[in-house]
Order: sequence, then C-alpha cells, then structure tokens
Amino acid sequence: MGDVGDSSFSAQAIDSILFYLNGTRIHLNASTIDPDATLLDFIRAQGPGLTGTKLGCGEGGCGACTVVVQSRHPTRGVLQHLAVNACLAPIVSVDGKHVITVEGLGDSENPHPLQERMWKMSGSQCGFCTPGIIMSLYALMRTAHSDPAKLGRLTVEDIELNGALDGNLCRCTGYKTILDSAKTFVGDYLAQAQGKGICPPDGRVDKDFVVPVNYAAANMDEGEVVVCCKMNINEPDPKELSSDIALPAPSGHESSVPPIDKFAGATGRTAPIVTTTMSKNAAPTPPPSTSASKGCGRADCCRLSTSNEGKAAKKHPWFPRFTFRPYKPNTELIFPPALSKHELKPLRFGNSERVWLRPTTLEQLVGLYEAFPHAKLVGGSSEVQIEVKLKAQVYPISIYISDIYPLYALSLPTPSRPYLEFGANLPLAELELTCQSLLAAPSAPASYAKGPIEAIRAQLRYFAGWQIRNVASVGGNIATASPISDLNPVWIAVGARLIARTASGPLELGMDDFFVGYRKTRLPPAAIIERIMVPLDGGPREVVKAYKQAKRRDDDIAIVNSCFAMLVDEDGIIARARFAYGGMAAWTVSTPKTQAFVIGKRFTHETLEGALQVLAAEIDLPFDVPGGMPSFRKTLALSFLFKFWNAARSPLIHKTSSAAFTAKLIPAGATIPQDPYAQDVVGKQEPHLSGLKHTTGEAVYTDDMPALQNEGYGALVLSTRARAKIISVDASHALSMDGVHTFVSHSDLPSPKANWWGTSALDEVFLAVDEVTAYGQPIGMVVAKTKILAQKAARTVKVAYEDLGPPILTIEEALENGSFHEQYDRRIARGDEIDGVLGAAEHVAEGITRMGGQEHFYLETMACLVVPKFESGEMEVFSSTQALTDCQRWIAQVTAVPRNRIVCRGKRMGGGFGGKETRPSQLAAIVALAAKKSKRPVRCMLDRSEDIQTTGQRHPFLVNWKVGFTSEGKITALKAQLYANAGYSLDISGGVVDRALAHIENCFYIPHVDVRGRCCKTNTVSNTAFRGFGGPQGMIVSEHYVEVVAHQLGLDIDRVREINLYKEGEETPYHQEVLDWHVPRLLEDCRVSSDYDRRRVEVDRFNDEHRWRKRGIALIPTKFGLAFGVKAMNQGAALVHIYMDGSVLVAHGGTEMGQGLYTKCCQIAAEELRIPLEAVFTSESSSNTVPNTVATAASSGSDLQGYAVHNACVELNKRLEPFRQKLGPDASLSSLAAAAWADRVSLSTTGYYKAPGLGYEWNNMKKSGNLFMYFTQGVAATEVEVDTLTGDHTVLRVDIHMDVGKSLNPAIDYGQIEGAFTQGQGWATIEESLWLRHNGAIFTQGPGAYKLPGFSDIPQVFNVSLLRDAEWPNLHSIKSSKGIGEPPLFLGASVAIAIRHALKSAREDAGITEVQEFRLPMTSERIRMAAGDFLAQKGAVKKREGGRDGFFAYI
Ligand SMILES: Cc1cc2nc3c(=O)[nH]c(=O)nc-3n(C[C@H](O)[C@H](O)[C@H](O)COP(=O)(O)OP(=O)(O)OC[C@H]3O[C@@H](n4cnc5c(N)ncnc54)[C@H](O)[C@@H]3O)c2cc1C
Ligand code: FES
Ligand code: FES
Repeated sequence: MGDVGDSSFSAQAIDSILFYLNGTRIHLNASTIDPDATLLDFIRAQGPGLTGTKLGCGEGGCGACTVVVQSRHPTRGVLQHLAVNACLAPIVSVDGKHVITVEGLGDSENPHPLQERMWKMSGSQCGFCTPGIIMSLYALMRTAHSDPAKLGRLTVEDIELNGALDGNLCRCTGYKTILDSAKTFVGDYLAQAQGKGICPPDGRVDKDFVVPVNYAAANMDEGEVVVCCKMNINEPDPKELSSDIALPAPSGHESSVPPIDKFAGATGRTAPIVTTTMSKNAAPTPPPSTSASKGCGRADCCRLSTSNEGKAAKKHPWFPRFTFRPYKPNTELIFPPALSKHELKPLRFGNSERVWLRPTTLEQLVGLYEAFPHAKLVGGSSEVQIEVKLKAQVYPISIYISDIYPLYALSLPTPSRPYLEFGANLPLAELELTCQSLLAAPSAPASYAKGPIEAIRAQLRYFAGWQIRNVASVGGNIATASPISDLNPVWIAVGARLIARTASGPLELGMDDFFVGYRKTRLPPAAIIERIMVPLDGGPREVVKAYKQAKRRDDDIAIVNSCFAMLVDEDGIIARARFAYGGMAAWTVSTPKTQAFVIGKRFTHETLEGALQVLAAEIDLPFDVPGGMPSFRKTLALSFLFKFWNAARSPLIHKTSSAAFTAKLIPAGATIPQDPYAQDVVGKQEPHLSGLKHTTGEAVYTDDMPALQNEGYGALVLSTRARAKIISVDASHALSMDGVHTFVSHSDLPSPKANWWGTSALDEVFLAVDEVTAYGQPIGMVVAKTKILAQKAARTVKVAYEDLGPPILTIEEALENGSFHEQYDRRIARGDEIDGVLGAAEHVAEGITRMGGQEHFYLETMACLVVPKFESGEMEVFSSTQALTDCQRWIAQVTAVPRNRIVCRGKRMGGGFGGKETRPSQLAAIVALAAKKSKRPVRCMLDRSEDIQTTGQRHPFLVNWKVGFTSEGKITALKAQLYANAGYSLDISGGVVDRALAHIENCFYIPHVDVRGRCCKTNTVSNTAFRGFGGPQGMIVSEHYVEVVAHQLGLDIDRVREINLYKEGEETPYHQEVLDWHVPRLLEDCRVSSDYDRRRVEVDRFNDEHRWRKRGIALIPTKFGLAFGVKAMNQGAALVHIYMDGSVLVAHGGTEMGQGLYTKCCQIAAEELRIPLEAVFTSESSSNTVPNTVATAASSGSDLQGYAVHNACVELNKRLEPFRQKLGPDASLSSLAAAAWADRVSLSTTGYYKAPGLGYEWNNMKKSGNLFMYFTQGVAATEVEVDTLTGDHTVLRVDIHMDVGKSLNPAIDYGQIEGAFTQGQGWATIEESLWLRHNGAIFTQGPGAYKLPGFSDIPQVFNVSLLRDAEWPNLHSIKSSKGIGEPPLFLGASVAIAIRHALKSAREDAGITEVQEFRLPMTSERIRMAAGDFLAQKGAVKKREGGRDGFFAYI
C-alpha cells in the first residue's frame, strides 16, 4: 500500500503499538507479528507462563479467552476494566491499554482471592473454562472497586442477574459452585445466607455445619450480621423471602418466571440451601507449603495458630475449615503510569498482505475511507473477526475506528430535547448502562418517554455475551444489517434516525426504510455511521415493547425478535403503530399492512384478532425458508403481537405500568455438607488436586506445551461433500506458499491397509482415498510454520468431487434405504414369546420415541503434539485422549513401527465426556504421519468447527415400542426396536446400543421383554461415546411408555412408576439381580425433602389459574449399570513409587479430564499408605508407565484404576510391614522408605485389578454372567415453568438424591452430579445439532449455533444430597464407592419430563387430549408448537405438494 489518501494521517502515522501485558511493557512493530493475529494469538504465542488464556471457540461464544483490558475511559476519564474476548480483539485495539490475563492475578504460590476461592469451593473440574471465568469475575470486581458509580460494592445481582457471566461457558461444573465461589465476595449475600440458611433442615444446631467463608474474606464486619444458627430458622423475614430482583422486561421471557423465594431451601421447609458447603471434615489439601508463615492452607494448620485466620476459626467453633484470604482491592495491579501519558497517534500497522490503519479523528477517518472505499471499517470486531476466521474473508485494508472519540459521544435527553443520541461506536455495554440509569431516574415529571429506552435495554440485556457487549457497537450492528439483529427492529419501531458521514458531509437517514435486502442498506458507499438519534417524545399513551426468542436465553442470536410501538389516544383509538420484526425475512422488516389495519381502530381484543389475521398473511414463510423453523417463526411473530397487546393493556387500560418482569433469580440450593463416610483421607471433600492450577492458569493442556524447535502446525483438509467420489486432490498452491512444509494424504501411509481403523470394526480410513461418506471427513493435512499459515494453505487445497446421490442423513432415511452397519444386530429377551404376551394383555399401547444427539463441546477441542525421535521410529505423543493405548496402537500402525516405540502421554484434558475416547486417534494418527513425513514435531489443536465436524456426537435414536399392561397400570410386556444413527462408521456405536437396550426398562420390572437394536449407517459424522453411552437414550423410552400407560388408564403417573418399580432381588431382562436396591427409599426421601406432593397440587392450581404460563413437575428415578460392556475392558493397572523423602508418585491407566480421577486415586494411595494427601502426586498418564490400558470411560475410572492403585499400595505396605514393626506404627513414610531401601527392598510396584463377576453373553437369552458390577441409583424432583407463547422455560427447582455408595470424595461427586445433570438438561432441552438438508453439512458448528446450558439456565433452587445411613452388602467396589460420572446425566431429562407435564395443561386448554409427540430435545420451538393453541395453529406452515424439504435435517 502506498501513501494513504489523507495527508495529515500519513504525516503523523506511526507503525508500532505500545501496550502493557500484566504490567510488562510490550512494544510491537509490524514486522514482528502477522497482522491477522488476534490478541489471543499474540498472548498464547508468548508460551509458558502465558497460556492460561485459552482458545475454546475463536468466535466469541465461550469466554475461554477472556482477558481484562484496563484503560482510561475515553470520555469519562475513569479507569475501566473490560472483560474482552481476546479471540476477537485485533492487536491494534490494545494500543495504549493494559491487558491483564489470569497470570496477572496470581499463581499457586500466591493466588488472587478469586483464584483461591474458586479452587477451594470446587469451581473447576477440567479447568479449561476457568481462567476465562476468573477474568470475567475479575473485571466485575475491579469495576465495583474502581468505578465511582459502584461505590466499591459488589452485589449478587452484579454476579448473577446482569449478565456478567453470560459470555462464559462451562461444560463440567453445572455452574453452581462457580457462582457460590463468586458470591463469597458479597458481604450482603453472606449475611443473608449466614443468618438464614446455614442450618440443617430440622433446625438443629450443628456445630459442624459451617459457612463457606469468613468475614474478613468478604470484607465484612463481623458485627454486622447474626451468625447464630438458631436464629430465624422458623421465622424467616418475609421481606427477605420475597425479595425478587426485578428487571425491565427482557424480551420474550416476560412472564416466564414467577416470584420465587430465593431462600426457599433455607427456611427449614426443605433442604438447607447453603451453597456447596464444606464440612468440618472438608478441609482442602493445599499445595505443598513453601513458607512456614503461610501455613499449609488448612484452617487448623498449627502454623497458623497465631495468625488472624486461626483466631477467627477459634472464635467461632462452627467457623469454616476453609479460611480465605481477604480481598484487598488496593493490592490489585495498577494502571501502568506510563500509559497515562500515552498519546494515541494515527497508526499504520501491517505488511503487504494486510494493513491496519487507526485514525484518531473523524476527519482522518473520512479522508481514509474516501481514499480506500473498499477498506473494512472495524469497530468492536465482533462481526469482522468472525468473517475473517469462519468465512475466510480477506480484508487487505482494515480501518480500526474504536479509538475515535466522537464516535463514543453520548447525549442524554432533556425536556427541551427529548432525544437519546449516541455515537455509532459507543460499546453496547455502555449504552445498556446508560439505559439503566435513565430508567432508574425519577420518572415524574416525565421529560422524556421511557418506552424506547426500556425496549433498547431489554434487547441489550440478552444481546451476545458481556465480553462482546463491552466492545461491540450499534454502528457495527446496523452496518452488518443482519436479519436477526436484536436492535434493528427497535430502531425501526421507535423511529430512530441515523447520521452518516461521507466526504461530502453529514447525511441523515430514517431507519424505517434503511434495510433494503439481505445485508443491504441505504448507506451510501464510503459512508460512516456517526450517530444514532432515538426520539423520546412519545407521551404516556405510547407503549413500546421489544421481544426476543432464541434457543437459549443468554448469549444467543434470535430466532425471531420484534419491537412494537403503539400510540393509543384518550378515546382508545390507535393513532400510530410501528411494528418491526427480525428473523422473518432476509432483513429486518416492518409490517405496513398490519400497522395500517390497526391504525384508526379501537384498542380492543377484536382489533387484535383482526391484526393477527392480517399479520399471518403478511409474514408468510415458505416451508424451506433459510434458517428453518417456519412454523415456529411465524407462530412467534403472532405470539409477540399477542403478548404486546396484553402487555399494553396495563398502561393503557389500567393506567399502571406493566407488571415488572421478574428475570432469572439468584440460584440457591444446597449440598448436604457432611462427609458421612470419611476416613483419614478417603471420603473427604477434597477439592480437585489441580484446582488451584486451573484457576491460576498454570495447568498445562496439550496445546499449552511450549513450542519445540522446528515445530510445524498441521491444518486438516476436510471434505465439503457428504457422499461423493474424490476425483482429484491438488495441494500444489498450498505447497508453493512460503512457510508451508508439506501436505500429507493417504498416499503417505506405509500401505493401503495401514489406513484402515476402527474400534469394533476396521471400517473407516484415517484419510479419505477415493470417496467421502460424510461432510467434514479428513482428506489431508497441510503442515506449515504457523497455525494461521497452515489454515490459510489448507483452504487452498483443491478437491474435485463427483456426487454419488443425496446423502442419507436421518434415521428414517436409513430405514427407507435399508442402510445399516450390518456387523451389529443385538437383542435382549426374557419371558414368554412377546407377541403372544402382548396379544393377551389387558391393555396395549405403542409409540415412537425420538431423540437427537448431543455435541460433547468439551471446552478444549482435540489436540495433539507428536515429536519424532529420529531413532528406531520412536515418537513421543502428547494427546488429549481418554484412551492412550488406542492412540499408541494407531500411531504404531500408520508409522509402521511396533508399539514399544510410541510413547503416548497425557496430563489432563479440558473435558472429554466420552468424546475423546475413540475419535482422538484419528487426529493423532494423521499428526504422527505428518511428523514422520515432515521430520519435525507437528502440533494440531482443532478449531471448534473442525472438532464438531470430525469427531462425532451422542447418538440420536428412534425407538418403536409396544407395551402390555394391566388396568392397575402394571406393565407386563415390552417390545421395542431401537435404531441409533451411527454415522458413516461403526466406531463404538454397538456398545452404545447395547447399553440403551440394557437400560430401556430403567427402574421398572417388566416380566416379558423383547428388545432389539440396530445401528443405522448414514452420511453424517461417526457418532461415538458420550457420557451415559446409550443409557439415557434407553431410559428416556421408559418415561414415554410410563406416560402413555398413565394417560391411557387415567392414572397418576407417579403411581404407575411406583407400582412398576423393581424390588430387591428381582432380575433385569438380562438376568442380573437388582441388589442393594435403594431407589424406593431415594424416591421417598426426595418426595419428602422436596415437598413434592404439596408442590404438585400447587402446580395444578397454578395451571388452572394461568393460560399462557404453565408449570410442570416430575419425580423420576434412574438406575445406571456400572462396568464396560466388553468384559476384557474391566481391568485397571497402576504403578506406584515411594521415594525416600516419603513422597509417592502414582501412575495408573486412567486419564484425567476433570472428573477428579487423579484426586481420588491419590486419596486412595494416601489412605492406604497412611500419609497425608499432599505427599502423593500424579504427574501424568503414559503408555510407558502403565501399558495396555483401557479407555477412561464408563464411569469406571476410580473403580478400576482406583482399585489397582489400592492393590499396589497394599503390596507396598506388605513390603514395608517389617520396617513398621521395627520403627513403630507412627514411623514416617520417609523413614520406612529409607529403611526399606537400605535393606534392598523395592519401593516401586505395579497394581492390577480385574472386576469380578462379569461375563454376560450377548444374544444368548439365557442367564450368563452379570453385565454390570452394580447399579448407581438416583432420583430427581424437578419443577419448571413454561411460557407457552414463546416456548421459553425456566427450571424453578431441582432436588436430587443420589446413591453413590460410600463416596470417595463428596466434593467431587457433588460436582459430577451437578455437572452431569446440567449436561442431561442440555441434551433434553436446548442442545440441538442441525444438518443442512441441501449438502449434509452440520450447521451447528460452534457456540453461535449450538447452545449448551449457560449460567442462567441452571435450576433456581438446586439441592443435591447423597444417600447415607444405608447398607450395600453386595457392593464390592473400591472402598464401597460407586462410579458417578455418567449416572446422574439422565436425571437432567427430568426437565423435559416436567416441561411435558406443563404442556399437558396447555394442550388441554387448547382442547388437545392426546399424548404429545415424544421427541427430544424439548427446544423452545418444540415447546411452543406443542402448546397447540390458536396462534400455533395459525402459525403452522405446511409443506406444499411437491415442495422442497425443510432447510434442516433432524437426524
Ligand atoms: C458471539 C457473538 C454473539 C453475538 N450476539 C448477537 C446478538 O445477540 N444480537 C445481535 O444483534 N448481534 C449479535 N452479534 C453480532 C455482532 O456482535 C453485532 O452485530 C455487533 O453489534 C457488531 O458490532 P462491532 O462494533 O463489533 O462491529 P464490527 O465487527 O467491528 O463491524 C461490523 C460491520 O460494521 C461495519 N461498521 C462498524 N462500525 C461502523 C460505522 N461506524 N460505520 C459504518 N460501518 C461500520 C464494519 O465495517 C463491519 O462491516 C453477535 C456476535 C458474536 C460474535
Ligand atoms: S475462544 Fe474466545 S470466546 Fe471462545
Ligand atoms: S471446568 Fe468448566 S469446562 Fe471444564
């Protein structure tokens, strides 16, 4: 690029950037960095010590990359701390600013209080999301203490209600522990909790019942609060109990949440609602202490006895064992003084391929844009970076405009000028705050109308995540002209005007006709949006409301949104109406016909009816409309108008403000704090041993490993056809690019045979040869110097295809085409010939149960680093895999060496959930091949979209079933045919279907059973293991047939469940006795503790009284069989070394993915060797310490590996016994070890374990060995509320009672239960994978389109307890504990069952009596359409004869 057009710019422009990173000055010039690099790329490239900031998605949707950008506000001058997505932020955006990453807060030697508390309160599991969450909270805390408006106060509302965490996702924890940790910084919250909640349910004062924090930690004055547990137990302060948090109406969710007692669980009426509370026994083991003064971290540490913390603990005997460091805001990182003087200068930064220009004045900008009309303006970059990253857009000239202060200008309304006017690039978060304060300002005498402000605020509250709102702008939103922009309908409805700037001067444009086509506007070329003016001159008789419905409430793009503004005169005549919709066309539209219809008419119900009629015709959508969901979208459009009309009644007819919307309330709930089975170390609530490293960002994941000399980066070339012949592959352009090392394809394999792999059948290839059978199948890999380059080069590889016909995507299509994986066909049968029994049954019913799959969405995508050793074919492999041995096996195959040359190592994964069981081997094998060919270390961490396209999901199922039953509701026979969508290869789909078959009766004894399963072969990604492994898919069928039986007989569904429950000793259809059967007791306990019977009556009453809001409640049981289905896999192995300083190194065959396996195994070793937990360490798992391991899966990690560790320790104890005899029972391990060594006794041994009593023979209907070792059991009582007009739902309360045997570590088990429940809730409700009908590509390729539950989806009251005072005489597991990873997941489906209950009432109101279709997930779309009312009927869009199929395929 030559000289730029504006001479003042050219004269002044500098070419380097100055900023600070965690207090260190960074001076970058253009030659040192790729101009395409984001802030995240830069930070992570700094290597060790700065890898806490993670890449989870690269599209602003997960928050793993959150950093805090500290700067002076450009106009207000105050110090601001903005949580920002580093993955979207251009480097130029931080010039003159201070970037703080998680490492800037503290480290494990000296953690920040946030890091310490999150660790101690089990706020992390896999830890991959944790640094990002810490940083969002850090921004919140710093803002509370630095923004004068906040007065140093952090409130629970700040944390939970105002969206501070809505841009962060966690896939493991279920969020509650994170919120609990954060709330320890809120003095008021603690005061309330301590005064009311920290008591056992019976009001008994229990000295062990402790609060999770101390006063000093929360900056509270002890004198302020009443801590005595006796107080207020039975007399809750009614004001407190009804103190809902009211917010202005967020769109689309208006009536979904009733006032809820936020301390409901705390009053003695139900379980205690203390947050995950640590008992006296629950002291976490700290990291080894380095200084005596710090103590060991335990509250009772003798070294702390003279410290303040120690004193506090003594003063209150019920005080926590967890003592937290106080938060001292004045010790935080300061704003570097040098930056205060930093002057922003025009900047030109880049190279010949891409250059960034950063003007600092509007005039410079206008000049530059005139000179380069094709340049890309970049504001918050939230849209532009998505285009660069996901759509491979190339912008050779980018003009960064967010440092131009006039574009931030803000002018508030005054009586003489009732306008809200703001600069186009004012960040959305600031606009939101402005709206909030305008709304909070005294309203009388009204100098300006608040309706438009309310509407803007409503849309902003649910607009993207906080990190995006902190940088993204209205100008960027308007210029993008997205058809689902949340704000554009508001601008149209409120009559906003836009001031644009061109070289020839300002230009004013109305928003009503601004959008003219798909992403097309009336903005002239080279025009800059400068300001937006919102008129606030509507009087009190103008009502303005905005609505939005998405799949998820927080951080989700709209399915449909709208804004309505209507002026009704004193005579009740509609004088003006402006209605605008997003999501109903290719651009934001208004509805002139409907508006014209209502204007001049009376504001009556009849007018509404007519308007709905006109609107239905005006917004017609075709069946195959892009974006799909035509019926839902049309129904929503109608429902919003209906909602608006009703909302307008309050101010217009009743002259009151419309009922305040009660937003999501503050979650509460309890876990029972005691550790009933605590031994010395085992059985105690120890936080995850890596927890502190998670929270400080020190935990190293595969892609955090330091770059090696000469290392290359691999980028996959994926198929862009679902079913096609490969005609040719041309990588010549890629190979001609500077810095590209090589291209790897199938022809680089040692033989064609080496390309074939698979877990249960060798039926797929690592790299496609001459055919692809799914979209996104790997064809090759480009290896280049950097990731950005490798990915650019991979995009240039040309693949020519010849289509082989339409892809088979759905189960139904597979059935029509007879497309199965023929290797698999299994059956479980017991009792008499099934058709005969069904024929003779008193009653029969049949049905089809359908359910979609589920994307794992582990926060860390699959990653692998292969280091060739150049000797004997040796390779060292670091892989994020649950199955190191599989990885080793396949790498040995593709590199043609024996397995003993391949060392596979894994320290930890950022989540696995089954998704990293078999599928990582494909990536590892390809990377190994690339390393071999390029003779250099090669690394690859998949982008989120690559991960989703290539690595498989939970299996969708379709089940045809028929049951026979008596008039009393006793089910006598079950016949079922199960079909799973396995995808293009078999993988372990057979095992998944096996488990579904073995769980289809769930907790119900059915004497005659005949169930069969098949795996459908389709042209989708190969589906694989996912937490529950077919169990939930089987069990959900039982909920369907129980519902149908109850419906057909007119019986209470709980009664039908009850009379069909197993009894102790009865046999499952696969002839295994059900022993230690606690489900009946769990049901009863849960019924009582959750006050279920009363609440059911309440639900019925509520539903009688409400037409559009409905509640539902469900109490469902689960029984989950523990063991691998393949007998051989039920083995574990360990290697334990004792060193002479008394420290112990434990290695075993399991891998750590956040589930706490390392922690539990270390506890077992510590217990057996009689040493403190801190003396035991696990460094990693690897194929050269423990060979031939089984995958860590099937919830069996601690069962198998824990027992193996135990056995190794038993052997070591045997060897040490003579020395114990000699040195005495209290001899330290170091002295024992020294003595043993001196006597030449080995201090290292392996341990081995094989699970006894297994040996079920499939397809042999007679009694053989057991299929499972035991059953983990549980129940959940769940209540929901549904907004039947929008399909939105809220989980009001969940009570879980779980039998985990004698828990090895209740803190971890609670975390597993809460996390699994939340995942199950996601599976059953909002998580929906969609495939594009026209080409078979998966549409839901990232967090933008695929929604997992977020912070505000968790139950508002969430109580969890573990079964205690029970016997397990038949349980022979390690320390009588039970596997817990998968079993609670099914309980999450109770949310869908409760929604069905709510919908039953809605459907009855609509005159529909038949049982609704059973299809999961219960998305907002399915909920809305199932309600079946007159609006849904009006909105239904039918496929026309001969018309095209829908936009999406539901597989
Ligand atoms: C994770 C995620 C979630 C999102 N959620 C939502 C959501 O809930 N609702 C919603 O509506 N949108 C959403 N978006 C879209 C996007 O964030 C918004 O459109 C945002 O307002 C864009 O602003 P920006 O400043 O970041 O724009 P940029 O990305 O900087 O620019 C976007 C476009 O606007 C142009 N532009 C920017 N400023 C000006 C100007 N002053 N004059 C002329 N042109 C200009 C740019 O050239 C570019 O073409 C989301 C995006 C992401 C990544
Ligand atoms: S990595 Fe940035 S938001 Fe996900
Ligand atoms: S701990 Fe949050 S994603 Fe694993």
